[in-house]
Amino acid sequence: MSASITDSKSAELYARALNVLPGGVNSPVRAMRSIGRDPIFAERAQGAELFDVDGNRYIDWMCSWGPLIHGHAHPAILDAVTAAAKAGTTFGAATAGEVELAEEVARRMPAVEMLRMTSSGTEASMSAIRLARAATGRDKLLKFAGAYHGHVDGLLAQAGSGLATQGIPSSPGVPAAATAATVIVGWNDPDAVAKACAEHEFAAILCEPYPANMGLVPPQEGFLEHLREQADANGALLVFDEVITGFRVAPGGAQELNGVSPDLTVMGKVIGGGLPAAAYGGRHDLMEQIAPAGDVYQAGTLSGNPLAVAAGRATLALLDEQAYLRLGSTTNALAQGMREAASGAGIPVQVSDVTGLLTIFFSDRPVTDYEGAKSCDAEAFGAWARALLARGVYPPPSQFEAWFPSLAHTQDHVERTLEIAAAAFAEVAAL
Ligand SMILES: Cc1ncc(COP(=O)(O)O)c(C=O)c1O
Repeated sequence: MSASITDSKSAELYARALNVLPGGVNSPVRAMRSIGRDPIFAERAQGAELFDVDGNRYIDWMCSWGPLIHGHAHPAILDAVTAAAKAGTTFGAATAGEVELAEEVARRMPAVEMLRMTSSGTEASMSAIRLARAATGRDKLLKFAGAYHGHVDGLLAQAGSGLATQGIPSSPGVPAAATAATVIVGWNDPDAVAKACAEHEFAAILCEPYPANMGLVPPQEGFLEHLREQADANGALLVFDEVITGFRVAPGGAQELNGVSPDLTVMGKVIGGGLPAAAYGGRHDLMEQIAPAGDVYQAGTLSGNPLAVAAGRATLALLDEQAYLRLGSTTNALAQGMREAASGAGIPVQVSDVTGLLTIFFSDRPVTDYEGAKSCDAEAFGAWARALLARGVYPPPSQFEAWFPSLAHTQDHVERTLEIAAAAFAEVAAL
C-alpha cells in the first residue's frame, strides 16, 4: 500500500467498501491485491485516460478489461446509447437492433450463422457448453490449464500438471461432481490433447484461441489446427471462447486470424461496447437446438438489452480495416518499446503481443503455457505495476492479464507510457 493514498478519498471509500462489499470490490482483480496495493476508485474517463476520485490521472491500458476498443466515452457510442435509452431501456421483447447486430456478427464471423445474446461472458460460455452437451449426448469437456471461461462451476477447475488431469474444483463451493467431467491439459501441448482424446469422448474441446487469462500466450504454429482435427476425430465440438479476442485481434476475431473455424463461438466484451452484453453462436443446425427453436433451455430477462445492443452496434460500425491496422501498430509500438525499456534496465521480460493485446511477462524464458506463466517473477511484476500506477500509467494489475490497447491510445500515449515504464523498470532493477 502506498503511503500517499492512506489519507485519500480512495482510502476512505475503500475502508467503507470493506464493510459492504467482499474485499471492497464487485470483481476480485479490481482489488489489486496481486500487486500488493489498494484499489483505485474511478470517477470518470475519456478516451485513453482515466481519473480517480482523488484527481489522479492515468493512461488507461486496462480499459475495463477489454470492451473499450474505442477507449472511454466515445461520442458515437454515447450518442447511440443515449438515443436507445430515450426510446426505452428494456422491453423484454424482440427488437430490430438485435437482428442487425446478429447479421453484422455473421458477416464478420462466417462460423456464427446464428447467435443467442446473454448479459455476461460467463452465461454465454455456460450456455455454449450446455448446447455442446445436448448436441453430442456427451458430458465431458476438455479445457486448458490457465484458461478462464467465466465463473461457471464446471470450468472452475485447474490442472495439477502439464499432463491430462481430472478437474479438481479451484474454488470452495464448486461441487467435485461439477468438475468431474472436465479434463484439463496444458496449452500448446498437442500430445496431451491427443492422449486425452484417445481416452475420453468429449462433448467439447473448449479454448481461448489466444489465451489471455494467464497473460497472453498465443497458440504455437499448428496447435489450433490440431485441436480442430482432434475434435473432429473425437466427435467433439470445437468451442472458441472469443470473449477477449472477438472483434479485437481481427474483424472476425482469432478464428479469422488463424483460419481455423470452430463449431461454436463465445463472445463478450467488444460486442457490448462497454455495456453488459455477450453471446454464443454457431451453425444453424446447432443453434436451432436452443429454445424455443429447439429444447435446450436458456433465457435472460435483459438478454439483447437495447442499450447494450446499441453500444455493440456502434462499436462494430467503427471497426473498419483501417481501425485494425491502427490498433495493430499501436500494440506493436508498445510491445517493441517495452522490450527495449526492460532490456535497457537489465530486467528479463518476455513480451507477447497480437493486435489489441499484449503481456509483459517477468521471465527470462519464453512463456508458452500456464506453468511458464506461473513461474514468472510476480513480485517484480507487482513492484513494477505499482511504480507505473504511481507515475500515472494504469496497467492490468496482475501478471496473468493482458494489456488492452485501444483506438483512443495515440503515439503520445505510447511514448509517455514507455518513458514511465523505463523509469519503473529502473526502480525495480534497483530493488
Ligand atoms: C475468455 C473469457 N471468457 C469468459 C469470460 C467471462 O466473461 P464475464 O466476465 O463477462 O462473465 C472472460 C472474462 O474476462 C474471459 O476473459
